[in-house]
Amino acid sequence: MSVDLSIEIAGIKMSAPVTTASGTFASGREYGDFIDLSELGAITAKTITFEPREGNPPPRMSETPSGMLNSIGLQNPGVDEFVEKDLPFLRDTGVPIILSIAGTRVEEYAILASRLSREEGIAALELNISCPNVKEGGVQFGVSSHLTAELVEEVRSLTDLPLIAKLTPNVSSITDIAVAAVGAGADAISLINTVSGMAIDIERRIPRLAVGSGGLSGPAIRPIAVKMVHDVSKAVEVPIIGMGGIRTGEDAIEFILAGASAVAVGTSNFSDPMATAGVVEGIRQYCDRHNVSKITDLIGDLNPR
Ligand SMILES: Cc1cc2nc3c(=O)[nH]c(=O)nc-3n(C[C@H](O)[C@H](O)[C@H](O)COP(=O)(O)O)c2cc1C
Repeated sequence: MSVDLSIEIAGIKMSAPVTTASGTFASGREYGDFIDLSELGAITAKTITFEPREGNPPPRMSETPSGMLNSIGLQNPGVDEFVEKDLPFLRDTGVPIILSIAGTRVEEYAILASRLSREEGIAALELNISCPNVKEGGVQFGVSSHLTAELVEEVRSLTDLPLIAKLTPNVSSITDIAVAAVGAGADAISLINTVSGMAIDIERRIPRLAVGSGGLSGPAIRPIAVKMVHDVSKAVEVPIIGMGGIRTGEDAIEFILAGASAVAVGTSNFSDPMATAGVVEGIRQYCDRHNVSKITDLIGDLNPR
């Protein structure tokens, strides 16, 4: 049986319900040696800011049981260099391009959104209001319903591009934040960014990351992410892109049954550069095995216990 994996999210026509998690796939150039990028439903690029950023000092990655901690801190070349060097490559892939943006102030998001709205070939903007690794740079918005709404509303008024709000799990109610983002005009929600964490080198009695703590990602956070997708999907009408520890098609199906319309693959890209393509194929095989003809039939299709 041929399975229809296509899905439309906020007007983005995806051939498969799989994109890349921002910051784990750069702009995809290196991964093109391993997979056919055109098989992805979309590519979500690394978060860009207005000015270039060096990120935090090393060490800024540390392996943990079933996951990793990072404190990269939004290292990126800034919007001008990105538009000049990476955007042409991304456009040539022929895959919908989701650009992730962050800033320290509402105005910075606004300037980036206006600037990028003038560029061809961008399918949507993802507002990163969830990076835990910079003192100022998004997460101060994503922990407050009020500030989330203010930011989304401002950006919404400046661009016709679809807006995806990317949320942090490091809040008391991610559902409240999602409702605020959608109320202010977000067309879709991405969740989750990394979970705050810390690891200590007990021999040297120092934190493993130079800045002390960071964000946990990988399979260790998957159940947290699945529950948050499930909860948020009950509270908002817009599509959800679910992520957190997805390695296989089966992992992705878990998110889709929880209510995600699509998924993003993140940390797995570091250990397996073919992970994204494997997730697409795994979803296809699951659908074959279960006589599912359209992936959209599975969204939120969870049986009661
Ligand atoms: C090394 C690293 C860098 C990341 N950089 C970004 C980023 O620039 N922007 C962003 O929105 N999320 C960033 N994230 C978060 C991921 O996009 C994703 O939300 C999170 O890691 C959970 O998914 P995963 O467990 O599949 O990695 C980063 C994650 C990692 C591990």
